[in-house]
This record gives sequence, structure tokens and C-alpha cells, in this order.
Amino acid sequence: MTAARSVGDMLSQATVSLRENGSRSPRLDAELLLAEALGVGRAELFRDPARVPTHEEAATFEGLLRRRLAHEPVAYILGRRAFRTIELEVTPGVLIPRPETETLVDVALEALRAMPLAGPGPEDEPLALDVGTGSGCVALALAAEDPFVRVVATDVEPAALAVARRNAARLGLARRVEFVLSDLFADVGERPFDLVVSNPPYIPADEYAALEPNVREYEPRRALHGGADGLDLYRRLVPGAALLLRPGGVLALEVGVGQAGAVVDIVGAAGAYEPPGLRHDLSGVPRVVHARRRGRGSG
Ligand SMILES: C[S@@+](CC[C@H](N)C(=O)[O-])C[C@H]1O[C@@H](n2cnc3c(N)ncnc32)[C@H](O)[C@@H]1O
Repeated sequence: MTAARSVGDMLSQATVSLRENGSRSPRLDAELLLAEALGVGRAELFRDPARVPTHEEAATFEGLLRRRLAHEPVAYILGRRAFRTIELEVTPGVLIPRPETETLVDVALEALRAMPLAGPGPEDEPLALDVGTGSGCVALALAAEDPFVRVVATDVEPAALAVARRNAARLGLARRVEFVLSDLFADVGERPFDLVVSNPPYIPADEYAALEPNVREYEPRRALHGGADGLDLYRRLVPGAALLLRPGGVLALEVGVGQAGAVVDIVGAAGAYEPPGLRHDLSGVPRVVHARRRGRGSG
């Protein structure tokens, strides 16, 4: 029989195993999984590191650790992920929200705040479109942080929309976020939008093949693979969004590393937008291309 181990011992040993297995955040992974197995918050682990978990708790932790050692992402193991001010359910049917996508939300919120409300009625509230919503993270973060915006969010995957709808209901935001099963925006109707945001799949084919196993083997291909050069969706999104945006409305697109120049060119070639701007993420990568729809008479 193996000797009972303390919380501190379990954390140290799991951290070593996860590091040797290639995790980029072995200590954090170990803490999140042990906290889950014990049914406590992470901070609780440090209050009494000498505590010896029960046999059942230790067995639960070993099961979670085995899944992580098989490269399953921690967010799928826990079934949730924090994003800005909200926590989202995530399943293998949706992309795990990334920290860099918070920059897209920053740009979108700033654009919304710069728009004067047309009047006091609900019909005067700004209307945003989130294309390829996945877990709903962008649409729901906008609704959580801007009390006026209404959002239409699309995805081509019914399984993703089911997760996004559950997130909206749990967060109490379902009244202001409408989900539509659609290829891009084909089925959203003719309404003019003040803002179109998207974090489309943008990984080029050769990079997709070389992705780490925790991404390639677990996250949905359709959420990641952007065609031969990663830009397939931008080529459809940019001209299509110009038809949906009101004059002066804003398009904001997340881009992959090294893609900003090409996406700026796609926006320019559409001939419908003012010169685009770039926003860098917290790692200094140009991450969001944004542009205003030209108004009548301005070009
Ligand atoms: C990179 S993920 C982004 C998910 C989420 N917005 C986020 O930032 O975490 C791209 C999403 O676009 C969806 N998607 C891919 N092709 C699409 C299409 N033609 N029309 C609508 N959605 C699409 C995928 O199913 C996936 O949910």
C-alpha cells in the first residue's frame, strides 16, 4: 500500500510529472486539478499544505491528472474557463477562450462607448454581431460589460451554439444576446449593425499540422483551421460585413501572429472602410485589425 500523501506532496509530484510531460504551466495545472478534486478554491490549498486528502479525493485527483498527462486541456477537464469578468462553460465542441481574445473585446467595447445612443428606447441601443461565437465568450463579455448593447452571435456548429446558449442563460444575459445558426452572417437578416466582431479560425494548414497535441487533438478543427494561408474566412468576412454595417459602424477582427498586414490589405481591397487601425495584445503582437465603415459621401 502506498503511503498517504499531503496536499503539498501531491502538488510537488504532479508538477514534476506535468513538466516532464511538456505542460507549459505545470504548477498551475496541478493546483487547479487538485482544488477541483478536493472541491475547494485554489487559495484553500495553501492554507494547510500538510492536510492529507481522503482516499477518494486522492483517487479523483489521480484520474484528473491522468487526463492532463494525456494532453487534455485543463479547461475541458474542469468544464469551465474564466474570460474577462465572466466564467464560461466549455466543452470539446468549442474553442477554449484565449487571453489574446480579451484584446478584441477591449477594441469592441471602446467602439461601442464612442457611439452616442440614438435615443432612449431599446430600438436605439447599439447592435453588435459576433461571427463564429464558439463558447459565446466575445458576445457575452460585451453584454456583461456594456449595459446597452444587444448582440447577435452566429456559429456554423450547432454544438457550439448549444454551449453558448447555456452560458448566456447561466450568466443572465439571454435577453440581450441572440444566437443564430449560420454560415458567417448568411442567416442574420438585413438589420444594420453598429459593430461586427469576429475571432475567425486563422491557423494556416502547415501550422495546424504542427500544433501542440493539447490543441490539435482536443479542440475543434473548424474553430482553428483557416485554409491554406489561414485567411479564407477574412476574405469572405470583410466584404460581407461591409454590407451589414451602417456607415460609421466598426469592424474588429482578431488575427493570428504575422497576419495583421495581410488582413489590413484585405480590408483596404474591400473599398468600403476607412484606413484600418491595429491593436497589440499584452504580448506585443498586432492582434486586432479594426476599421470604420465609410459613411455616405466620405469616399
Ligand atoms: C477561433 S473560434 C472562436 C470562438 C470564440 N469566438 C472565441 O473567441 O473563443 C472560431 C469559431 O468560428 C466558427 N466558424 C467556423 N467557420 C464558420 C463559418 N463559416 N460561419 C460561422 N462560424 C464559423 C467555429 O465553429 C468556431 O466556433
